[in-house]
Amino acid sequence: MIEMENINKVYKMGEVSLDALKEVSLSIEPGEFISIMGPSGSGKSTLLNIIGCLDTPTSGSYFLEEKNVAGLSLDQLSAVRNRKIGFVFQNFNLLPYATTYENVELPMLFNGKSGKKRRQRVIELLEMVGLVNRQLHRPSELSGGEQQRVAIARALANDPAMILADEPTGNLDSKTGVEIMGLFVRLQQQGRTILMVTHDTNIAAYSQRTINLLDGRII
Ligand SMILES: Nc1ncnc2c1ncn2[C@@H]1O[C@H](COP(=O)(O)OP(=O)(O)OP(=O)(O)O)[C@@H](O)[C@H]1O
Ligand SMILES: [Mg+2]
Repeated sequence: MIEMENINKVYKMGEVSLDALKEVSLSIEPGEFISIMGPSGSGKSTLLNIIGCLDTPTSGSYFLEEKNVAGLSLDQLSAVRNRKIGFVFQNFNLLPYATTYENVELPMLFNGKSGKKRRQRVIELLEMVGLVNRQLHRPSELSGGEQQRVAIARALANDPAMILADEPTGNLDSKTGVEIMGLFVRLQQQGRTILMVTHDTNIAAYSQRTINLLDGRII
């Protein structure tokens, strides 16, 4: 699924430059569920953003499903993202004035699905996350766990092969976090590849492999 070799990421701010990732090489098979751990500032989000084509490495090679994405333009990167990758964030990142239904439908508006097909898919996803009876609620009218379930349904809208999650349980109590992990396990059973950043070893225990970062390097 993923083949990275000698990835470096340098953030330049005026005279100062910061090496956020140093010589990172990794390969990930389709269907793996992987957690990424490490102290604050160790480069976890930077790595996830590069894997998710939200950002590009300073140097190194990155193949996503055998396609070299290191040299793609921003437009090409966003097309890859929309088709292949679903994102889940710590703070849910839902549109505040949109309903549950509209939040889940949103990614489908950019890829030409008919209205009827969109509706079927939204309902199917809301059934999967147990929120059919919350369709008209806005995010502020939902609990944290419910908001994260909406975000997961939205991430799945275009049926991505890969789910990237940056501390998906970071704002949830431990019981709700376990419920969200139950959903992640089901996503893996559907054959999806999952990469998840977490600080919590109990949450990492749901994955099969942990990548540990320290000061921008895999240890
Ligand atoms: N856009 C940016 N510009 C400059 N420096 C950045 C930028 N993003 C991150 N950094 C720096 O790169 C390093 C790695 O940041 P990153 O966000 O990947 O850490 P992290 O492991 O996700 O930390 P946390 O657990 O706190 O989320 C940090 O030192 C951070 O200050
Ligand atoms: Mg981070």
